[in-house]
Amino acid sequence: MFQLKGIEKMNEEQKMKYMINKLQAQLSSEEDELANISNATAIIDAIIDRINWAGFYFIKNDELVLGPFQGLPACNRIQIGKGVCGTAVVERKVQRIADVCKFPGHIACDAASKSEIVIPLIKDDIVYGVLDIDSPQFDRFSELEEKYLVKFVDLLNEYVDWNRII
Ligand code: SME
Repeated sequence: MFQLKGIEKMNEEQKMKYMINKLQAQLSSEEDELANISNATAIIDAIIDRINWAGFYFIKNDELVLGPFQGLPACNRIQIGKGVCGTAVVERKVQRIADVCKFPGHIACDAASKSEIVIPLIKDDIVYGVLDIDSPQFDRFSELEEKYLVKFVDLLNEYVDWNRII
């Protein structure tokens, strides 16, 4: 059973370490890719506060296609190079956007989203997709959270064979 212990008393870094530990526990106890990435989105949703969407998009036939997520139903497909997600793929870089309304070409799947962080999934130099997290609050994501979300994706990369997803 998944339990969140004393999370309300943790500072930001403790929460991030706790999130990494929960992912490590998930990945080392299950081999199924879909189960692992589904629970990865649930771990983020349970631990990171003030967010309204967290999930994956995977590159299939040169387009980003929606994967497991938490939140309201979202855009099914995003073109590479479009929006924050498509930009993360082209630039192969984390996009931490304080105000999505100011991001040229931002795709509003949920009108409540005000800030966003997108981490590209890159393994052996191949981009497989992105992890996207949205918040209803402006400038929600800190540099420290970015650092740990990159670690989160690094850990997924160690365990998940993205070729079994795409
Ligand atoms: N806002 C994203 C689209 C995905 S949804 O927010 C879930 C973007 O501009 O890429």
